[in-house]
Amino acid sequence: CGIVGYIGNKDVKEILLYGLEKMEYRGYDSAGIGVRDDNEVKVFKEKGRIKDLREKVDMDFDATVGIGHTRWATHGVPNVKNAHPHQSADGRFTLVHNGVIENYEQVRQEHIPDVDLVSSTDTEIIVEIMSKFAQEGLSTEEAFTKTLDILHGSYAIGLLDEEEPDVIYAAKNKSPLLLGRGDGFNVITSDAMAMLQQTNEFVELMDGEVVLLKRDEIIIKDKTGKEVERDSYIAEIDESDTEKGTYDHYMLKEINDQPAAMRKIIQEYQDEDENLKIDTEIIDQLKDSDRIYVIAAGTSYHAGLIGKEFFEKWAGVPTEVHVASEFVYNTPLLSEKPLFIFISQSGETADSRAVLVEIKKLGHKSLTVTNVPGSTLSREADQTLTLHAGPEIAVASTKAYTAQIAVLSILAQVAARELGKGTEINLMQELAKVTTAITAIIDDAPAIEQIVNEYLETTRNAFFIGRTMDYYVGLEGALKLKEISYIQAEGFAGGELKHGTIALIEENTPVFALATQEKVNLNIRGNAQEVEARGAKVCMVSMEGLNQEGDTYVIPRVHEMLTPLVSVVVYQFIAYYAALHRGNDVDKPRNLAKSVTVE
Ligand code: G6P
Repeated sequence: CGIVGYIGNKDVKEILLYGLEKMEYRGYDSAGIGVRDDNEVKVFKEKGRIKDLREKVDMDFDATVGIGHTRWATHGVPNVKNAHPHQSADGRFTLVHNGVIENYEQVRQEHIPDVDLVSSTDTEIIVEIMSKFAQEGLSTEEAFTKTLDILHGSYAIGLLDEEEPDVIYAAKNKSPLLLGRGDGFNVITSDAMAMLQQTNEFVELMDGEVVLLKRDEIIIKDKTGKEVERDSYIAEIDESDTEKGTYDHYMLKEINDQPAAMRKIIQEYQDEDENLKIDTEIIDQLKDSDRIYVIAAGTSYHAGLIGKEFFEKWAGVPTEVHVASEFVYNTPLLSEKPLFIFISQSGETADSRAVLVEIKKLGHKSLTVTNVPGSTLSREADQTLTLHAGPEIAVASTKAYTAQIAVLSILAQVAARELGKGTEINLMQELAKVTTAITAIIDDAPAIEQIVNEYLETTRNAFFIGRTMDYYVGLEGALKLKEISYIQAEGFAGGELKHGTIALIEENTPVFALATQEKVNLNIRGNAQEVEARGAKVCMVSMEGLNQEGDTYVIPRVHEMLTPLVSVVVYQFIAYYAALHRGNDVDKPRNLAKSVTVE
């Protein structure tokens, strides 16, 4: 979910709706705004997208204070009742919330057992408890602080009190929330991007702090009620980077952005002598560790699997890659000097942050690799490496994945150099070749659309097989296809298929096989034949030099360790066209959100 709030002198409805549109990637199953009209706070909510909400909002009155929310359902189905803002029965408090209140049932029974709730969310109790405390004589600020004290879980909250027309209350715990400063106005937002049209000057908020946002001042108080002074910073984001320009979809734009992202990375990570450059502290941390633990979710996890190959094969550092949500509740035995690398496009994934919080308590070192400097994971880890891919808006990650792999390759090569491993390659030159290869595939998109016509038009399932690095790319190819085309797709290690999954192969089942690794080229071709013999329709994607007659698609030749950067682009286009041909919402697939800030 994402929240916004504005207090100032302009028409707040348009500002909130625009902000929510910019944040729709965080959830889009329902949305709402609460705005002050004279003495009352009017709430407009709708199931579905912000454009649906827009139609419902009465634009015929002026309002200059308001809060808004776009939802990714956790408790309660997506409908109007469960959409935010929630308002207390007496109409006094109106609130938007991003996060999960874990003890809401217990809190409800203890404090408001007799109140009938309208929604089935974990949020509505907050406004009712506020109202109860206010009736007992507490000031709004006191009631807010007391309410927050009894809540367990994660939250970013924006709150309006009908009796205090000139303030928005806000607070956060675990979920992200920024304060934006302006001339005669101030804002709250889950993501800087949503408020860039208003301001690019932001102030961080820490867990447990309470904010009183007024037109001309921002008052931040710590847990003890003491005022906190904090400097603002300027968010270096170009608003035009968040537009999709002439492309039909953000995903298509972002696939096309990849060569430029590669060039930017090459430029950012080299010194004047064109040598690879990474901060010495980061390399020292890495040199000092006996094992790397990569922690990530979704596509970033898949990038981590490729990173492991770089760290082990080039830098000689043993590396484990873990799914964040598992690691946090089932931590493996750790080595003596672990280094934790968090990979996250958004830098906000709650599952990964939960691990970071735990390992910090143990005193372990951490590095975040993210596209969003200033994000939670970036701020809270010891070090950050930035992806420089530019904002990624489509829910299905594309350019962040390739940027993650490129940055990890640079980190591993610098480590190899500093550790004197003798495994150095001319990485900048090799990445330049990768850039050219990606461009060639982009230019060849119509040919890939033909593959979709031939293999995926009617199928309900598909398999992606590969060995070694190609297996990992298959996992990502399958994830992309699932996410946006809703075709059931699975990635498998080529050799493992025969141990069970091959039972699923039927006449014309599409199997995408990837062959970019010399060592296993013949093996994967053997696996392809095994499925073909059982009726599968094999789409063989190979690399120049390893290709054979009859291969469906051949990618340009690049360094064998870097093939994922190129082969994945074929799979990105396959997923894109498959979703497009099925008439799906490519950028906002059902049930998903780009940045999942709940565990
Ligand atoms: C969500 C998105 C995925 C993404 C994952 C991790 O589930 O839908 O596309 O890969 O989060 O996100 P992160 O921002 O941590 O890379």
